[in-house]
Amino acid sequence: MDTKNSVALVTGANRGLGQAIVQELLSRGAAKVYAGARDPRSVDTTDARVVPLRLDVTDPDSVTAAAAAAPDVDLVVNNAGIAETMSVFAADGVEALRRQLETNAVGPLLVTRAFASTLAAHGGGAVVNILSVLSWFTPPSWSSYAVSKAAAWSVTNATRGELKAQGTQVLGVHVGFLDTDMTAHVDSPKIDPAVLAAQVLDAVAAGADELLADELSRGVKAGLSGDVAALNG
Ligand SMILES: NC(=O)c1ccc[n+]([C@@H]2O[C@H](COP(=O)([O-])OP(=O)(O)OC[C@H]3O[C@@H](n4cnc5c(N)ncnc54)[C@H](OP(=O)(O)O)[C@@H]3O)[C@@H](O)[C@H]2O)c1
Repeated sequence: MDTKNSVALVTGANRGLGQAIVQELLSRGAAKVYAGARDPRSVDTTDARVVPLRLDVTDPDSVTAAAAAAPDVDLVVNNAGIAETMSVFAADGVEALRRQLETNAVGPLLVTRAFASTLAAHGGGAVVNILSVLSWFTPPSWSSYAVSKAAAWSVTNATRGELKAQGTQVLGVHVGFLDTDMTAHVDSPKIDPAVLAAQVLDAVAAGADELLADELSRGVKAGLSGDVAALNG
């Protein structure tokens, strides 16, 4: 779909990749961008087309209220996420996994379910789920995050099948490290979130189901048919 004149919802829009996607939408001529944030006061409203929207993706009441307050959305970007650098076998690993599953996998499902009829009423529109190369690749120290992103990939595939009949494009985005607060402690090459935001909107415009945004994601996806031992790094 063409994002010019579109009305978008971006979750986790107050910082990091979410903020970069909001800026890219505005620069491409979006009519309105609902900027979902747990604290709407943290949203940059310099551009009058930005509408701060209180939204905690783990809270069903918050999601329902957001959908009622944004009845004109034709593009949903499920970007909000958390990352805990913790193995599922660490002492607190199961609790860490539950938190990340709630935010990273159940959250996008709740949001998309709540907005599905709105998307249908506006011609189908599109859903973007920000996933990770770690949907497919599981370094032990990141395994609680990786399990949640693998679940989010499956949620994305379920969503695509479910919303096909109403003509909704569902795009899964896989990428390695981005230069945001989430990876401030990581000393590795990182992608500028503004660069990924442009790739995401190009993929939406192209009607794509999947974006493999970097060499790492392309290599890991290509390797899925190989030896499973390679999937732990
Ligand atoms: N950074 C990376 O290297 C990387 C790589 C691959 C994929 N990703 C994915 O990219 C997405 C964006 O990450 P980022 O790097 O921009 O991270 P970030 O800078 O840490 O920002 C995370 C955003 O998610 C929001 N958020 C967290 N929990 C939420 C909840 N329950 N409800 C609503 N919003 C919530 C945060 O809001 P608050 O300000 O309220 O905390 C913040 O706006 C995530 O899905 C992440 O998993 C990131």
